[in-house]
Amino acid sequence: ADISARVGDILSAHAALEGPLLPILHAVQAEYGFVPQAALPQIARALNLSRAEVHGVVSFYHDFREEPAGRHVVKLCRAEACQAMGGDAVADHARARLGVDWHGTTPGGVTLEPVFCLGLCACAPAALIDGRVVGRVDAARLDELLAGCGA
Ligand code: FES
Repeated sequence: ADISARVGDILSAHAALEGPLLPILHAVQAEYGFVPQAALPQIARALNLSRAEVHGVVSFYHDFREEPAGRHVVKLCRAEACQAMGGDAVADHARARLGVDWHGTTPGGVTLEPVFCLGLCACAPAALIDGRVVGRVDAARLDELLAGCGA
């Protein structure tokens, strides 16, 4: 469907809210799976913000995606407890093995994303693979999980 018409509906549905930007961005992402660049000027205009301000919010919050995700989404916890248990090495391994940086998607359709605490600190380092939480991830375990995603 026409992006500006859909985004227009979302904007009017949130018009009465105090601080509507985050709910609007969440609604847009729920609709498209990401926040399309094309929606930013329209959102900015409606809220009397600059396009740069809206873009700044989209890129600041790790929840928002600026591009469609691949078929598989691999999220690695980057918060403290997981870092203390070797999360950095797992993250480096993932980036090297997939050949992409955070928020990147491999040609085979695996998207790598950081996440900040999955509530699984006791089993750090933790990951979320296609919505499934996995604890005690090391390089070897990650390789198995990635192989399961076809990577
Ligand atoms: Fe990683 Fe809590 S810090 S799950």
